[in-house]
Amino acid sequence: NSYCVAILGATGAVGRELLELLESRNFPVSELKLLASERSAGQKLTFKGEDLLVEPVSDRAFENVDIVLASAGGSTSKTWAPIATEKGAIVIDNSSAFRMKEEVPLVVPEVNPQAAANHKGIIANPNCTTILMAVAVWPLHQIKPIKRIVAATYQSASGAGAKAMAEVQAQARAILEGKQPTAEVFPYPLAFNLFPHNSPLNDWGYCEEEMKMVNETRKIFGDQQIRITATCVRVPVLRAHSEAINLEFESPFTPDEAREILSKSPGIKLMEDWQKNYFPMPFDATGIDEVLVGRIRQDISHACGLELWLCGDQIRKGAALNAVQIAELLVEKSLLKPIPSLVNG
Ligand code: A2P
Repeated sequence: NSYCVAILGATGAVGRELLELLESRNFPVSELKLLASERSAGQKLTFKGEDLLVEPVSDRAFENVDIVLASAGGSTSKTWAPIATEKGAIVIDNSSAFRMKEEVPLVVPEVNPQAAANHKGIIANPNCTTILMAVAVWPLHQIKPIKRIVAATYQSASGAGAKAMAEVQAQARAILEGKQPTAEVFPYPLAFNLFPHNSPLNDWGYCEEEMKMVNETRKIFGDQQIRITATCVRVPVLRAHSEAINLEFESPFTPDEAREILSKSPGIKLMEDWQKNYFPMPFDATGIDEVLVGRIRQDISHACGLELWLCGDQIRKGAALNAVQIAELLVEKSLLKPIPSLVNG
């Protein structure tokens, strides 16, 4: 079997990676539709050596589509996902629009693939920092329950899209030329700088990105008891996010035990050279599929605490790869079924 696939947001940073992954992973595509805004009409992108025209998204564009991979922002998804599902497509949505809806599975294939089976037409791809943390921490949680997670993130520009990446590069050039950097996508210059994540703040002083890590992790793990707090920071890195994670378990977990478990877990690569003080860096994680984990050590302030450090490609496992893996899961488990509510209607 092969499938008619549409990429909504095909011209964006994640959209282009989706295109590359569908090709390199040999996803069974019978037809590929590249959808974006009116601004991109007429642009061409290459898939399997063929130039494909980008179309402005419209109702008609979803006809006969089996799978929509959406990465064009929350409001675009809110508008088009219901139209696509009505036409019988399954939408794998990268935005935050549907993630916390009860009827929408929130899936990291290494963690909760079974959740995908309950979809009603939309499956949500979690937030990028959340995916990376979930992949690294879930195997440990399976062995000994985690009571509390304290995370600090070092997030690359790619989380804010292709324009944000270009903006940081332009700012770096401006600064090196002795000019004043300007900022449009981000609120402040990011090159040679950093700032707490610029998503909206709630009454407790947490930003949306931090609350995504809290709420989405609980949903993915199916564990509302796990306590999570995070500080999310944007750093002048292009593609890969890094995270410092402190875990508190019910009982002690030695670094060697953790290493042993993580070395056998899917989607993870251990990268530790204690002699050389070499641990995962964004450069190492860029362009690769695995979440790189290292610097696993006992928390000297808590008998049941463990510290770890991770890096992961935000555009790949943090977004496009996870979405393609969900699509692969749907194919493998024959979950591309007609939407139950539409069968009789
Ligand atoms: P376009 O390039 O035509 O603006 P990124 O996350 O890298 O900024 O990419 C966002 C993606 O979402 C782009 O492909 C962009 O298309 C697309 N997009 C943004 N707004 C809309 C919209 N209103 N309708 C369709 N696609 C949109």
